[in-house]
Amino acid sequence: MKLTSRHQQLLHRTFIDYQATAEFLENPLIIERAEGLYLWDIEAKRYFDAIGGIFVAVLGHRHPRVMEAMRRQMERATFVPPLHSISDVTLDLVEKLGDIAPENLTFGKPFSGGSEAVEAGMKFARQYHKQSGHPGKYKFVSRYHGYHGGTFGGLAASGTGPRKSKFEPQMSGFVKVFPPSHYRDRFASWEEANRFAAQAVRDVIEHEDPETVAGVIVEPIGNTGGIITPTHEYFQILRDACHQHNVTLIFDEVITGFAKTGRMFAAQTFGVTPDIICTGKGISSGAIPLGAMIARQDMAAAFSGPPGSNVQFAHGHTFAGNPLACAAGLAVIEEILEKDLCAKAERLGSYLASRLECLRKLGVVKEIRGKGILRGVEFSQPTLGVALKKTALQNGIILRIDPSWFAVAPPLIAEESDIDEMYGLIEKSVVDAIALAGL
Ligand SMILES: Cc1ncc(COP(=O)(O)O)c(C=O)c1O
Repeated sequence: MKLTSRHQQLLHRTFIDYQATAEFLENPLIIERAEGLYLWDIEAKRYFDAIGGIFVAVLGHRHPRVMEAMRRQMERATFVPPLHSISDVTLDLVEKLGDIAPENLTFGKPFSGGSEAVEAGMKFARQYHKQSGHPGKYKFVSRYHGYHGGTFGGLAASGTGPRKSKFEPQMSGFVKVFPPSHYRDRFASWEEANRFAAQAVRDVIEHEDPETVAGVIVEPIGNTGGIITPTHEYFQILRDACHQHNVTLIFDEVITGFAKTGRMFAAQTFGVTPDIICTGKGISSGAIPLGAMIARQDMAAAFSGPPGSNVQFAHGHTFAGNPLACAAGLAVIEEILEKDLCAKAERLGSYLASRLECLRKLGVVKEIRGKGILRGVEFSQPTLGVALKKTALQNGIILRIDPSWFAVAPPLIAEESDIDEMYGLIEKSVVDAIALAGL
């Protein structure tokens, strides 16, 4: 099917996420079919999905195990009354999330995506402090360049200037610090920049008055900014500062979750246990909207009391814990565990990194970063990504592209030969972008 004038008209009746319609219309991509590593547009052109949609399809698109689990669940129940009940499969997913999360993070609640999980995590932290003798703790420390969702709370925690400023005034009570990458060129080493950035978090907590600070929320690896990968020590300093001041450490693992970094969560990759993990994207491999908040079980004790006391976490969404979505999430996690896809992410990630290193011969690479199959390439030419956006689509590859960097996170069903194919498309696209940009 060709792109018709009807499609063109309809594109003016909706919008594409974070993109101007006029820009999208220069190269409109309307997808008809997705399977495994590939997408096909309505003109039957095939695209290698090198980012699993947007860090989502960890098992590729329409994985048979996930499809089958959803089919079976459709024969049982697709919705249960949320104010009166919970579905059996929701409880199964809660149990499974507790099994795979670090230490005592076993209090879980599935939602319909990353933003809902982040909102719940922050509300949980605020209410927790109110109910555990520290009612003055309400502020969150988060980072410039971070992204935590498109809702007002997530946006307030985010540090992406132009995306936020259009919706000011923001929710109050959010204090920003810079990520380690901000100090990269001011210190002799990446380690020192990380130490300084982590120490700044402690300083901010102390200068804000710790009795007013509820939480610190960070993405373990920052997507916005180009897969910014801190040191282990960075997280250790954050963890110690939060322990010292009774501040809830929230890891937004919406991107880093579900095996991409070589462990189920980046918390395990970095060897630091936060108090709350917010997750989304990869949890359903894109089969259906799903996210989850996973919190320390002992924090949950602050939300229960004797019958009649009405002590509760005052939160909910109509589709939270949706049985069909939970069935998909369970199938994804079981597949990751059975096939040991965490180990594969580490193995395949090393191979992927070695292939990306070959881009250096083109003379436009500043840095290559990441863990597991989550990798980012920063350009020494700060606007090359603008041309790459065009050439990647022309060459049939979907990447996460910003003007100065691009990122990949291929599905874990890929083998080395697929990584070779993907790399070939990337190299050709970068070569074409260099020509297009006249460099
Ligand atoms: C780190 C992070 N947190 C939260 C979100 C919000 O998730 P969702 O778009 O599923 O609401 C995103 C989305 O890109 C994200 O990257």
